[in-house]
Amino acid sequence: MKIAILASEGAPYVKSGGLGDVMEALPAALSRIPGNEVVLILPYYKKIKENPAFQVELMAQYEVQLGWRRQYAGLMALNNRADGVKVYFVDNNYYFGHRPGAIYGDMDDSERYAFFSRACLDGLHHLGFVPDVIQCNDWQTAMVPTYLRAMYRDKFPDTKCMYTIHNIEYQGWANAGFFDDVLGLPWEYRGIMDMNHSVNMMKGAIETADLVTTVSETYSRELMYPYFAHGLDGIISDASWKLTGITNGIDVGTFNPETDKALPAHYNADSFVEGKAACKAALQKEVGLPVKPDAPLMVMVTRLAGHKGLDLLCYIARRLLWEENCQLLILGTGEPQFENFFKELAAEFPDQVAAKITFDLGLASRIYAGGDIYLMPSKSEPCGLSQMNAMRYGTVPVVHATGGLKDTVPPVDEFGQNGLGFTFQSYNGDDFYAAVKRCLNLYNQDREGFRNLQYRDMCQDFSWNKPASRYMDLFHRMLGW
Ligand code: GLC
Repeated sequence: MKIAILASEGAPYVKSGGLGDVMEALPAALSRIPGNEVVLILPYYKKIKENPAFQVELMAQYEVQLGWRRQYAGLMALNNRADGVKVYFVDNNYYFGHRPGAIYGDMDDSERYAFFSRACLDGLHHLGFVPDVIQCNDWQTAMVPTYLRAMYRDKFPDTKCMYTIHNIEYQGWANAGFFDDVLGLPWEYRGIMDMNHSVNMMKGAIETADLVTTVSETYSRELMYPYFAHGLDGIISDASWKLTGITNGIDVGTFNPETDKALPAHYNADSFVEGKAACKAALQKEVGLPVKPDAPLMVMVTRLAGHKGLDLLCYIARRLLWEENCQLLILGTGEPQFENFFKELAAEFPDQVAAKITFDLGLASRIYAGGDIYLMPSKSEPCGLSQMNAMRYGTVPVVHATGGLKDTVPPVDEFGQNGLGFTFQSYNGDDFYAAVKRCLNLYNQDREGFRNLQYRDMCQDFSWNKPASRYMDLFHRMLGW
């Protein structure tokens, strides 16, 4: 099957969050399935352009029509990727190549990614690659299914399109004038793109894609409710017949405590007791906490953003630190109020708290390995990957039972048996506290039971094999239509 995957980020080239991880592992997993030919297209950001590790070759140059504009696009092929995935970058200095700083957040993001979406379709045509299936992701490539249906049927008469929502919070809003000024779609698409007299690109994609997926089963159901859908609940409900949740995997090759180069000691499910003890001691030393093998070390690797549930942690932190002989380690950057809170907490409890306000992938690995308990009280979480990383490294998750957290962390019962971690149902600090407390009790009072739980966590299959085959099932279903 010929599959084109389009996205605004993909590791190892460019990554701001979980989408980048998925765009590294999913194309690779699909290309391992015999008979598949997988193409991945990303924007040619300054960061990629300036990285000598990524050698490219110019494949095509063409102009992309955006409303009244015609904008240059160059299609660059990456020369040195080892697996079967063919990677292309869309080059345009004005939109991507000359922008300093972060990849998103410019005033004209809507225009930049409308350009990218169209440039991908033109690029596939110039390559002579007619995909059976296009899989596109989040608001940045949300124009693809609509353009495909409205303007590219002559070039791709039988191509089907799957649209995947990784986070419904960001939808690609633009003012009403954007429809004529930038999108340049036929007038009959005005209603499809319109929401509250503005343009909403994600809404358009939900309506025009052949199938819509999201990144966990629970999130696909949650999206029917206003609490989770950020205004799109009605649109999602109408499209529920074509909506499926497929829970992400993680890259078990990269995230492997037996081989991870960032770790001071290596281990697997049979040797984790000694291996994790060595990693924990080294980690406590690295971050300036007292080296105490028996103090439960609670860790978090996260963007410091409100929806990650940090308000709950702020609410319970002092009570927890006063009452329990535990340690807390946070790694991440984000909203200033949270950065400041954790810095102050570390100053107040120097023997119990360390806050590393930075982005450091190596330290993240050492935290997954050296921690005992992984906290993830997200308010909503489409899938979440780090709870799976944590479990793979034998660190027990305590999570809010929402989205992918609910699907990947079945709760431990009252005897500490079964299940993979500790959960709480309603989003409030006291319930979170109680879940943390249950986990600490198991750690403190039944170390054997805690180790059995760690063992169960480490034995789970979080690889992309299963999710990739579910994507294939849906691709086949679309092709049958
Ligand atoms: C987004 C979601 C996260 C998910 C990731 C990959 O970042 O917020 O929950 O794991 O996409 O699908």
